[in-house]
Amino acid sequence: MEVKPYENSDKSKRKQVEEMFDDIAPKYDFLNHTLTMGIDRIWRRKAIRIANENKPQSILDVACGTGDFSILEAKKTSAKVTAIDISQGMLDIAVKKAEKEELLNGIEFIKADSLCMPFSDNTFDAVTVGFGVRNFADIPKGLSEILRVLKPGGRLVVLELSEPPNPVVKAGYSFYFHKVLPWWGNVISKNKAAYKYLPKSVDNFPYGERFVTLMKEAGYKNTKLKWLTLGLCAIYTGEKM
Ligand SMILES: C[S@@+](CC[C@H](N)C(=O)[O-])C[C@H]1O[C@@H](n2cnc3c(N)ncnc32)[C@H](O)[C@@H]1O
Repeated sequence: MEVKPYENSDKSKRKQVEEMFDDIAPKYDFLNHTLTMGIDRIWRRKAIRIANENKPQSILDVACGTGDFSILEAKKTSAKVTAIDISQGMLDIAVKKAEKEELLNGIEFIKADSLCMPFSDNTFDAVTVGFGVRNFADIPKGLSEILRVLKPGGRLVVLELSEPPNPVVKAGYSFYFHKVLPWWGNVISKNKAAYKYLPKSVDNFPYGERFVTLMKEAGYKNTKLKWLTLGLCAIYTGEKM
């Protein structure tokens, strides 16, 4: 199969993404769970099981948003969790949720950009990114930066949406994503642009083998791709040797 190379042309994407998530942060959780009909919770659990296979003592959750992934990691693993995001609005909600669950001792939330992280080389046993990679202004740079902060033997686990391969499922998905989602997102968040951006970000994401190729090019070994729910989502793993 021919794998198309990934190209990124939008230099101002980081700022736009930060402002957009700041704006939709109060409604993000409600919209996220209603729009995926709760399936995202099952996907998250699967990804965390894979991240926890090597019993990491430290996990970095990149693009943590409102903290669903980080909180689950603090509950389901014995690792110390560090979580970063560029949106202060999303982080504020994450902190409140962790506080409510009495998990703030186990998670450190930091405002930081995944493309330039404030951590030394070889710091974390595992890194997770849930529905965040497609928002990176420069995906190859983000993957290299994550590799830098992973310890040798450490594992990256990426959970990301993708276009399903089956034409019937794809047609249903396309209608839902391009029509229902922007409408419902606008009704709830009053931010039409944000929920138009979401389907576009999935359309533009180099999912499947293209993403695996980007991981390999960044230097990851033992790369694996696991499709979930008819190809609507995928878990990508790779290790630092
Ligand atoms: C769709 S949300 C996913 C949040 C969360 N991981 C989850 O599973 O629900 C994407 C998040 O990525 C964050 N993000 C996008 N680009 C980023 C970057 N360069 N560095 C850190 N966070 C970033 C956004 O601010 C947003 O909170």
